[in-house]
Amino acid sequence: MALHCGRACRTYLLHLAHDNVDFRLPEIKALLSLRSRPFETSDTFREKSPFWQLNGLLEDDIRSVMSRTVCAKSAFELWGHGKTQSELKTSLLEYPPENMAPYLQQNLTYKINVYTFNKTLDFKDRIKKIDALDFLPFEGKVNLKDTDHIFCLLEDYGCDPNNIPEEPLHIYFGRWLADGQRELIRSYSVKKRHFIGNTSMDAGLSFIMANHAGVKADDLVYDPFVGTGSLLVACSHFGAYVSGTDIDYNTIHGIGKASRKNQKWRGPDENIRANLRQYGTESLYVDVLVSDASQTIWRKNALFDAIVTDPPYGIRESTRRTGSNKDIIRPPDDFAGESYVPVSMAYHLSDIFADLLNFSAHHLVLGGRLVYWLPVYKPEYCEEMVPLHPCLTLISNCEQTLSSHTSRRLITMEKTKEPEDSDQVVHLADPRFSSYQGHNSFREKYFSGLTKKNGRESKPPQKNE
Ligand SMILES: C[S@@+](CC[C@H](N)C(=O)[O-])C[C@H]1O[C@@H](n2cnc3c(N)ncnc32)[C@H](O)[C@@H]1O
Repeated sequence: MALHCGRACRTYLLHLAHDNVDFRLPEIKALLSLRSRPFETSDTFREKSPFWQLNGLLEDDIRSVMSRTVCAKSAFELWGHGKTQSELKTSLLEYPPENMAPYLQQNLTYKINVYTFNKTLDFKDRIKKIDALDFLPFEGKVNLKDTDHIFCLLEDYGCDPNNIPEEPLHIYFGRWLADGQRELIRSYSVKKRHFIGNTSMDAGLSFIMANHAGVKADDLVYDPFVGTGSLLVACSHFGAYVSGTDIDYNTIHGIGKASRKNQKWRGPDENIRANLRQYGTESLYVDVLVSDASQTIWRKNALFDAIVTDPPYGIRESTRRTGSNKDIIRPPDDFAGESYVPVSMAYHLSDIFADLLNFSAHHLVLGGRLVYWLPVYKPEYCEEMVPLHPCLTLISNCEQTLSSHTSRRLITMEKTKEPEDSDQVVHLADPRFSSYQGHNSFREKYFSGLTKKNGRESKPPQKNE
């Protein structure tokens, strides 16, 4: 640790986006753990704040996080902070001059930006705030266009837009290091994607899932409910090889009805491979298969570095599985037609999750992560409903609200041990390992909430929103 603190023991400031607030901490922790770095912060840390101070890291750790995050907007080396202008000044004057000196030299140009959260300042006030920093020993010249170093004064006016204080609650000053990858949300938008479906996952959430899973270059990622492959697109962006299955023949083969409003049938080459080609990652496409996630098709080996998936909830797509022979009513002896007729039967949500966890326990490498969405009926939700498995450790559980009475939770689990025979009876010792049957009525509860309030309730999510 002492070695690590040589040039470091500096504090870094993350400026976080104020959407998907619940997903931010697990994302940053997952990206730090890719470098085996802990998440260390100050005693005054507030998770909902748009500004987080991180300790015990190197500049390279921060740059690596910023090269992946879609939750953080920018990162700074923090030079000073306080609750008032004078506290900020005292803090800046205490910052070791030798840490500042390399960036303030005569031959270097610089500029200072002012960023305010929850308040808009006019140009005159911004200039005043910059002028108030004239005690800092800048020796170089200001250059607004092509500058060597950028500094930023960041003011936090709280999170309540109806109660904006006159003066900021917190003020920070630091050297800008890097921006995050928020631009990916626009450049990978499903609106501009070649192949989409009714349940294509939004780009921002797909990248968040890939980050929670800690997907990295050369990993092999699998999505057992692959649909149009939005999660594979995000994982391949980070250099992983990607594969998946879906029970729907048309989706896997990119044929049938289109999801776009002004298009009746899917065009040629509307498939997952073409999506990866669109983003320049076709070389990482392994393949996708028509297959039922309730049936085992893989050899019993730890094959995948991550399983990232969005199982069906029965709202915009049906939850079904193929039947086995014993489920088929035998035809009469004199029947002359095809001898095998595959049947499609209901696939209950609690079975979907139990199968998914069991599959992950067998087919993830040790340390590999499962990331998936669990739909919940909010009035009944409690943590005990989140499915557990003796081989998988729960890492995070974040909520995304769908309506006033439903939400989905992004669950991240890490494989921490190989399966053993004794795992099959673990639910006898601890009932939390039995699958929670209440998930099965999610569909009825989802729609019952909508009708109860005479349509004034928030509507179900629309196509591709
Ligand atoms: C929520 S969608 C996944 C959407 C996908 N993430 C995307 O971006 O397009 C769930 C998918 O699970 C598939 N599915 C339903 N039952 C299945 C089963 N038993 N086995 C495999 N896939 C199944 C559906 O056809 C659907 O494409």
